[in-house]
Amino acid sequence: MSAREWVRPEVRALTAYHVPDPGDAIKLDAMENPYRLPPELVDAWLERLREVPLNRYPDPAARQLRERLRRWLQLRPEVEVILGNGSDELIQIFLLALAARDRVVLAPEPTFVMYRMIAQFTGMRYLGVPLRGGDFGLDLDTMLAAIETERPAAVFLAWPNNPTGNRWPREQVERLIEAAPALVVVDEAYAPFADDSLLDAVGRWDNLVVMRTFSKQGLAGLRLGYAVGPRDWIREFDKLRLPYNINALTQASAAFALEHMAVFEEQAARIRAERARLSTALGAMEGVEPFASETNFILFRVPAGQGRAVFEGLLARGVLIKDLSNQPGLDDCLRVTVGTPRENTAFLQALRETLAAERA
Ligand SMILES: Cc1ncc(COP(=O)(O)O)c(C=O)c1O
Repeated sequence: MSAREWVRPEVRALTAYHVPDPGDAIKLDAMENPYRLPPELVDAWLERLREVPLNRYPDPAARQLRERLRRWLQLRPEVEVILGNGSDELIQIFLLALAARDRVVLAPEPTFVMYRMIAQFTGMRYLGVPLRGGDFGLDLDTMLAAIETERPAAVFLAWPNNPTGNRWPREQVERLIEAAPALVVVDEAYAPFADDSLLDAVGRWDNLVVMRTFSKQGLAGLRLGYAVGPRDWIREFDKLRLPYNINALTQASAAFALEHMAVFEEQAARIRAERARLSTALGAMEGVEPFASETNFILFRVPAGQGRAVFEGLLARGVLIKDLSNQPGLDDCLRVTVGTPRENTAFLQALRETLAAERA
């Protein structure tokens, strides 16, 4: 009667998703927006929350929130939207709907780890096609060949990609959507920081779903993701959504946020400006190679063999970023989230000191 005997082997084989405790460190590891709701909005938001009846279940269809979201996104009537407790939950819903033994989930690698993890725990076969070394571009021929031979039930394209930060050419993504026999999820988690979007192309192909999240935009604590797609796909997915997956406080808060999107857009513009400053400063450091980013983070490479030591040196100096240096294709790579100007300056200073100490 032990867990070993009964828990499915693919679940036992997983390692739990690890989130480090930041302690007092400057937290630049999780692609959060460093800015809080401006003080002048906090009172209005709290007033709104005062009206929420916590004794009642939330609206299972989140009608008001979905309607506001549709209006903000200017969705056409023929496309449908589904909400998730973070976009992580949406990935889980998609794969629960498609899972069958030997069905394949395909994605370029390295990419967002939840595609692989959820494929594994829904009992599907995950296939990662390596990105080109050097610039993390798509290996289009290999992707197309894999689509042809493996007939994947789902293809995930993080656009722009996490953890590399780049956005592949739109024509390449469109080629993959056209070639795929089944669902293609274009994950636009970083849309607020990117220069292009496929949202307005939803409906042009019957297999394209575009997914986004409120997390990177300043509302990670709410846990709210959404996906937009053709009605027949979204209606099937909706059957697997647990009835009250978006809690009442999140529904009210997100509806409130949608009335004030200019605030979040202005914060995103500040983050983009800081991203440019960080990238230039990183590029000017000896032995450091920053990669192009259309997200709110920057992937950068440090001198060979120093990845882990630089991560630890930064942490010892009070800055937590993400160490990716032991992952395939990411030797000596670290990922820093763009913070406030002060945080970024502290990070740059800590990095200079760490690199100097490594050289000594
Ligand atoms: C590409 C990508 N998609 C989805 C997510 C998850 O977002 P959420 O907070 O909505 O679950 C992340 C988070 O890092 C991400 O990088």
